[in-house]
Amino acid sequence: MPVKVTVCEGCCCGNVDKGHPEVPVNYLLDAWNEYDIAKHVELEISGCLGPCSKHNVSVLKIQDKEIWIGELNEESHYKAIVEWASKFSSIQGGDAIPKILQDHVFDPDEDY
Ligand code: FES
Repeated sequence: MPVKVTVCEGCCCGNVDKGHPEVPVNYLLDAWNEYDIAKHVELEISGCLGPCSKHNVSVLKIQDKEIWIGELNEESHYKAIVEWASKFSSIQGGDAIPKILQDHVFDPDEDY
Protein backbone atom coordinates (compact mmCIF):
# COMPACT_ATOMS: atom_id res chain seq x y z
CA MET A 1 0.00 0.00 0.00
CA PRO A 2 1.53 3.36 -0.98
CA VAL A 3 0.28 5.26 2.08
CA LYS A 4 1.00 4.09 5.59
CA VAL A 5 0.84 5.46 9.12
CA THR A 6 3.23 3.91 11.60
CA VAL A 7 2.52 4.76 15.23
CA CYS A 8 5.21 3.91 17.72
CA GLU A 9 4.27 2.24 20.95
CA GLY A 10 7.70 1.01 21.93
CA CYS A 11 9.94 1.22 24.96
CA CYS A 12 9.38 4.98 25.39
CA CYS A 13 6.50 6.16 23.21
CA GLY A 14 3.32 5.70 25.18
CA ASN A 15 5.17 4.36 28.22
CA VAL A 16 3.34 5.98 31.11
CA ASP A 17 5.78 4.48 33.59
CA LYS A 18 8.44 6.71 32.01
CA GLY A 19 6.12 9.69 32.23
CA HIS A 20 5.10 9.71 28.58
CA PRO A 21 1.50 10.07 27.44
CA GLU A 22 -0.34 6.94 26.45
CA VAL A 23 -0.67 6.16 22.73
CA PRO A 24 -4.42 5.93 22.03
CA VAL A 25 -4.16 2.64 20.14
CA ASN A 26 -7.83 1.68 20.53
CA TYR A 27 -8.97 5.09 19.36
CA LEU A 28 -6.79 4.77 16.25
CA LEU A 29 -7.97 1.23 15.44
CA ASP A 30 -11.62 2.23 15.95
CA ALA A 31 -11.21 5.33 13.77
CA TRP A 32 -9.56 3.29 11.01
CA ASN A 33 -12.63 1.02 11.03
CA GLU A 34 -15.24 3.71 11.47
CA TYR A 35 -13.97 5.89 8.63
CA ASP A 36 -13.01 2.92 6.46
CA ILE A 37 -9.46 4.22 6.17
CA ALA A 38 -7.73 0.84 5.82
CA LYS A 39 -8.69 0.53 2.15
CA HIS A 40 -6.28 3.33 1.28
CA VAL A 41 -4.03 3.86 4.27
CA GLU A 42 -2.38 1.09 6.25
CA LEU A 43 -2.04 1.53 10.01
CA GLU A 44 0.80 -0.12 11.87
CA ILE A 45 1.32 0.04 15.61
CA SER A 46 5.03 -0.59 15.94
CA GLY A 47 7.79 -1.17 18.43
CA CYS A 48 10.60 1.35 18.86
CA LEU A 49 11.38 3.29 15.69
CA GLY A 50 14.67 4.70 17.01
CA PRO A 51 14.32 8.38 17.96
CA CYS A 52 12.97 7.76 21.49
CA SER A 53 13.84 11.27 22.66
CA LYS A 54 11.07 12.55 20.37
CA HIS A 55 8.42 10.45 22.11
CA ASN A 56 5.70 9.95 21.07
CA VAL A 57 6.69 9.30 17.46
CA SER A 58 4.75 8.45 14.30
CA VAL A 59 5.68 8.25 10.62
CA LEU A 60 3.43 9.17 7.71
CA LYS A 61 4.62 7.42 4.57
CA ILE A 62 3.45 8.45 1.13
CA GLN A 63 4.99 6.42 -1.67
CA ASP A 64 8.70 6.60 -0.76
CA LYS A 65 8.47 9.87 1.20
CA GLU A 66 8.47 9.69 4.99
CA ILE A 67 7.24 12.45 7.30
CA TRP A 68 8.44 11.87 10.85
CA ILE A 69 6.46 13.55 13.61
CA GLY A 70 7.28 13.54 17.30
CA GLU A 71 6.26 14.87 20.68
CA LEU A 72 2.69 13.82 20.05
CA ASN A 73 1.59 14.55 23.58
CA GLU A 74 -2.06 15.40 23.06
CA GLU A 75 -5.09 13.50 21.90
CA SER A 76 -5.58 16.22 19.29
CA HIS A 77 -2.33 15.14 17.60
CA TYR A 78 -3.67 11.66 17.03
CA LYS A 79 -7.03 13.06 15.92
CA ALA A 80 -5.10 15.07 13.33
CA ILE A 81 -3.41 11.90 12.10
CA VAL A 82 -6.84 10.30 11.65
CA GLU A 83 -8.02 13.42 9.83
CA TRP A 84 -4.97 13.30 7.53
CA ALA A 85 -5.44 9.60 6.80
CA SER A 86 -9.17 10.08 6.18
CA LYS A 87 -8.37 12.56 3.44
CA PHE A 88 -6.45 9.89 1.61
CA SER A 89 -9.56 7.75 1.81
CA SER A 90 -11.71 10.42 0.23
CA ILE A 91 -11.60 11.62 -3.35
CA GLN A 92 -9.73 14.74 -2.22
CA GLY A 93 -6.45 13.02 -1.39
CA GLY A 94 -3.41 15.23 -0.94
CA ASP A 95 -0.41 14.91 1.30
CA ALA A 96 -0.45 18.24 3.19
CA ILE A 97 -0.37 17.43 6.86
CA PRO A 98 -2.62 19.25 9.33
CA LYS A 99 -1.22 22.48 10.78
CA ILE A 100 -1.25 21.10 14.32
CA LEU A 101 1.29 18.46 13.23
CA GLN A 102 3.55 20.68 11.13
CA ASP A 103 5.52 21.95 14.15
CA HIS A 104 6.17 18.35 15.16
CA VAL A 105 7.94 17.29 11.96
CA PHE A 106 11.58 16.30 12.48
CA ASP A 107 14.41 14.68 10.57
CA PRO A 108 15.24 11.34 12.19
CA ASP A 109 18.78 11.52 10.80
CA GLU A 110 19.57 14.86 12.42
CA ASP A 111 17.24 15.90 15.17
CA TYR A 112 17.67 13.36 17.90
S1 FES B 1 9.92 3.93 21.61
FE1 FES B 1 9.15 5.17 20.01
S2 FES B 1 10.94 5.81 19.01
FE2 FES B 1 11.70 4.51 20.58
